[in-house]
Amino acid sequence: MIKAQDLRKEYKQNKKVTVKALDGVTFEIPDSSTVAIVGPSGSGKSTLLNILGGLDTDYSGEILVNGKNIKDYNTNDYRRKVVGTIFQQFNLVPSLTVAENIMLPISFGKQMSSFEAENRLAHLLDRLGLKDRAKHTPAELSGGQSQRVAIARALISKPQIILADEPTGNLDSKTGNEIVELLFELNKEEGTTLIIVTHDPELFKNVDFSIHLKDGKINN
Ligand SMILES: Nc1ncnc2c1ncn2[C@@H]1O[C@H](COP(=O)(O)OP(=O)(O)OP(=O)(O)O)[C@@H](O)[C@H]1O
Ligand SMILES: [Mg+2]
Repeated sequence: MIKAQDLRKEYKQNKKVTVKALDGVTFEIPDSSTVAIVGPSGSGKSTLLNILGGLDTDYSGEILVNGKNIKDYNTNDYRRKVVGTIFQQFNLVPSLTVAENIMLPISFGKQMSSFEAENRLAHLLDRLGLKDRAKHTPAELSGGQSQRVAIARALISKPQIILADEPTGNLDSKTGNEIVELLFELNKEEGTTLIIVTHDPELFKNVDFSIHLKDGKINN
């Protein structure tokens, strides 16, 4: 269960102008559910996702995951074992191969034996249709392949929650739909909670519920 209580975040644009990117946001998300975060440009969607992902810690209010404030988790543990994040721009490391990119989140810690990690990698390469691309570099991949690598990287450490910020934003609509279908299938297979920021109405038809943001407030 994720519980967010009265989240607030302000950006000072200059001395006089302050933007309330999040203005008192409260919600609960049950385990293994699928959630869309929707709303107009500038409504606070990415701000909320970055906070949930532990990438931004400068906010007020609190987020509990499994009853524990996310600020009380070890940062690396939280970002590697609790959440996995997927971005619009894929954010792959250009100098690493596909397999190395996928393994990146677990290449520092000791949360998995190398046997387990190799098995997990083989499973994800197979599941995401990347088996014959394992030794390629990101420059040699299509957009859809790149995003599948990013999904595998987000899943490698078996996180409880997958966060995706407009994961289809850089893809054509057919490839985008395939990626979305894959994310929903993987949500079922892996039992993860899927939280997805989207502008695409097709996409949020399939979710358990949506969080509608407007001017940093929930507007359901
Ligand atoms: N680094 C920053 N500095 C100042 N203001 C920011 C910063 N990041 C975001 N903002 C402001 O906070 C508000 C929320 O931004 P956010 O990126 O969360 O919106 P969004 O809903 O993700 O929009 P989009 O759909 O365009 O991606 C906006 O008014 C934005 O201008
Ligand atoms: Mg955004």
